Amino acid sequence: MSKKLCIETVGCQMNVLDSELVVGSLRRQGYSLTTEPTEADVILFNTCSVRQHAEDKVYSALGRLREHKRRHPHKVIGVLGCMAQKDQELIRQRAPHVDIVCGTGQLARLPELIAAVKRDGSFQLAVSLDRHEASRPEVERSFESYDPLRDPTVRPSPFQAYVRIMIGCDKFCTYCIVPSVRGPEQSRHPEHIAAEVRQLADEGCKEITFLGQTVNSWKHDFGDGRRWRLADLLLHIHDTPGIERIKFLTNFPRDMSDDLLDAVRDLPKVCPYLHVPAQSGCNEVLKRMKRLYTVEFYRDMLARCRERIPGVAISSDFIVGFCGESEASFARTCELVRTAGFKNSYIFKYSPRPGTKADELFADDVPEEVKKRRNNDLLAIQNAVSLADHRRYIGRTVEVLVEGRSKTSLKHPDEDVPQLTGRTVTDHIVVFPGPDRWAGRTVRVAIEEATAFTLFGTVVEEPNGSGAGPRRVSLPTV
Ligand code: 5AD
Ligand code: SF4
Repeated sequence: MSKKLCIETVGCQMNVLDSELVVGSLRRQGYSLTTEPTEADVILFNTCSVRQHAEDKVYSALGRLREHKRRHPHKVIGVLGCMAQKDQELIRQRAPHVDIVCGTGQLARLPELIAAVKRDGSFQLAVSLDRHEASRPEVERSFESYDPLRDPTVRPSPFQAYVRIMIGCDKFCTYCIVPSVRGPEQSRHPEHIAAEVRQLADEGCKEITFLGQTVNSWKHDFGDGRRWRLADLLLHIHDTPGIERIKFLTNFPRDMSDDLLDAVRDLPKVCPYLHVPAQSGCNEVLKRMKRLYTVEFYRDMLARCRERIPGVAISSDFIVGFCGESEASFARTCELVRTAGFKNSYIFKYSPRPGTKADELFADDVPEEVKKRRNNDLLAIQNAVSLADHRRYIGRTVEVLVEGRSKTSLKHPDEDVPQLTGRTVTDHIVVFPGPDRWAGRTVRVAIEEATAFTLFGTVVEEPNGSGAGPRRVSLPTV
């Protein structure tokens, strides 16, 4: 009987990619996936430390497994990723039934760590952030050798894939735990990235998204006088046959250089969509966050993006209730959101993270109810802006890469004509009726309705994927 693996993933795209790689490596060891933790031989949690809430959820899930592990001591429980990196032995103290604590830099060692637990039941702690452990060449797996070990069958979508182009972060925003749990910024070699993109394209992938905490800070020095930045990398991989769309996440406002904006404008496969978190609209707050820019700089940057890339869609992140955020500071953030025209914003309540500068230096002085109210208020402003942005699409026809059934249609597998969902090049979510076989293809959809989150329409053209080139299809009834 095959061994069973259950992995639960919380957090960002980086974690989704890490889990994909972990599952890929364990499948090669004969594991098959289950979504039911109690059916699994190995239960893994790939964790996030960005906010307390994400950590609490993992500790309660671990608590629920305590009795299960007591009754089935041979089962292996592992905590992976950012929380493992941050809490290390503390996890074992709080949850003594955990067998493996494996940080973000050591995920490639998981098969070996699981084998060690199975051999003698010993606790395994692997939290070095030094990916180039020359002292142990047998376990030395930098992301150069680890990332390409992908398994197309475990990717969330066969047509879309994340490609890590850098790890870590050197910015040290005062609220953020990422630099401590993901280590210093390291850019990956362009030829390794290009090879992985080719491999993904060969496996049928049409859309790739480059990942990095500050993806637009990617750089490579060839040592012969040539220095590449993200714009050069985009150009380098642009013509990879099979790849239709290229996206990249997440951008740091200060590194949004003109050459990158021009590359987005001039390279047809690079999507005119930029995620550039502002975090706050108030200079004092930005300063305490150590974001290294002012709101005036941020607005100029937005204007540059819009000027250089016609039709670009921009999204943002905000933290509300950061230390010392007064009503006046918050009003400035509201003003930015009201006027910046973001396609959407992800809004978070400040969560103090032990080990960060903000936690050390400033009091978490905005009460929880105030954080909640500001969160709701800012969300309401952004939703109105998003709705206005979405309404502009009514009456227009957009190209959509079909991802599969919409959430609602997934719940009704017997529907004659299911609702499909996909995204435009500007990352707008579109829902429309169509057959399952359109998944992975690009269709043209006439937009008829809009909410703050979704565009709704009807397919007017199915231009590719069948090998027959563009052709008209009859209009399905809504
Ligand atoms: N509290 C709340 N939100 C945070 N983020 C990062 N650190 C914190 C924190 N301590 C948010 C930022 C970042 C997003 C990924 O998470 O907005 O862009
Ligand atoms: Fe965290 Fe700032 Fe780095 Fe983003 S840029 S990962 S918010 S430290």
